[in-house]
Amino acid sequence: MTERITLTRSNSLKGEVSPPPDKSISHRALIFCSLAKGSSRIKNLLRAADPISTMNAMRALGVEIIDRADEIVIKARGLYELSEPQDIIDCGNSGTTMRLLTGLLSAQPFFSVLTGDSSLRSRPMKRVITPLSEMGASIMARQENSLAPIAIKGGRLRGIHYRCPVASAQVKSAILLAGLYAEGTTTVVEPRKSRDHTERMLPAFGAKISVDDLSVSISSGAELYPVDIVVPGDFSSAAFFMVAALIIKGSEVLIKNVCINPTRTGLINAISSMGGNIQILNEREVSGEPVADILCQYTEGLKGIDLPEELVPSMIDEFPIFTVLATQAEGITTVRGAEELRVKESDRISTMARELSKMGVEVEEFPDGMSIKGPVKLKGAQLNSHHDHRVAMALSVAALVAEGESVIEGTEAVDISFPGFYEVLRRLSV
Ligand code: S3P
Repeated sequence: MTERITLTRSNSLKGEVSPPPDKSISHRALIFCSLAKGSSRIKNLLRAADPISTMNAMRALGVEIIDRADEIVIKARGLYELSEPQDIIDCGNSGTTMRLLTGLLSAQPFFSVLTGDSSLRSRPMKRVITPLSEMGASIMARQENSLAPIAIKGGRLRGIHYRCPVASAQVKSAILLAGLYAEGTTTVVEPRKSRDHTERMLPAFGAKISVDDLSVSISSGAELYPVDIVVPGDFSSAAFFMVAALIIKGSEVLIKNVCINPTRTGLINAISSMGGNIQILNEREVSGEPVADILCQYTEGLKGIDLPEELVPSMIDEFPIFTVLATQAEGITTVRGAEELRVKESDRISTMARELSKMGVEVEEFPDGMSIKGPVKLKGAQLNSHHDHRVAMALSVAALVAEGESVIEGTEAVDISFPGFYEVLRRLSV
């Protein structure tokens, strides 16, 4: 059901917040633990719609997953013990579920079908279907094998050396999962480094993986052992509070227990170049991932920047909120080389351009990015999330610095990655 929320200008945000557990790491923990032989435990798994799609999918493949209040216990039987699902698997809104499972199911000796909601059924799937078919899987999908539903008849695969045309952790991970089963070695080479949670986590299970700059290789033949995993907080969810603190007068927010994996934290570099008050404190390691607390303070005189293209993959999920930050910076902020934004949960270039212009922002759209002229005194408006969780949260932060009332339609989307987002905002607002 469509939900809406009304927001007005906020008081300062003050205090501490722990963002929800990392979504990418949660998906991977669920999938990899389901392939190990024995019992694994996951602490602090993200209980939000996207990882729950993955959990249900692994259950449909015959894996026993017990959800206790303080941990998830996964009792799995090993790499070769998944069973044919009795029904179509619904991946909901989750691209990570669909693409990683397409890789995994390509190697299984049975038939399966993956589908999702209308957003996911319009997102490009050829990018996984092409390399997986090259490895020997039989895959059919709508619109000449480009859109879900995807029907997969898996089987014996051969390793490939694949030069991926896009920097995509979902494509890389799908191929590496298939490579766990394929004859010989499977290598993926990316044009730019995408998030590396898969290649960080899989070796702990005993998988044979090697990384050389932009190239990741996996060899089959290793049985996976169970592992206990603690999921750190999600940088992409923390980003909403980072930007809110920077642009709402008098704010100071300490965001605790955030994964600061360098393949995810381009936004920190961007904020620093804009002159934002941001400090990384108490750096440590949790389950093989770097973690820290992040302190952000209101900053007067933020400067617009030309975002370096090499930062794009490491802040790909932060663009909706980055565009809000750009509206409050002096001068023009330009993003180029970010055409991937057009194939996310919504076309994030056009949705953010459309919604921000309702608030009085001058936006120029390019095929691969946009430019925004700031600073803008935002005006409250009737806004729409376009069923996109990150657009809903970014517009909510924009509404907190706008004059007058904003109504955001479609706020139920935040449950995809951040149930409880509005309660946290309310608590921080003093
Ligand atoms: C993700 C990879 C990224 C990201 C998505 C999560 C992952 O997508 O946008 O939210 O967990 O692997 P792409 O692989 O399409 O870049």
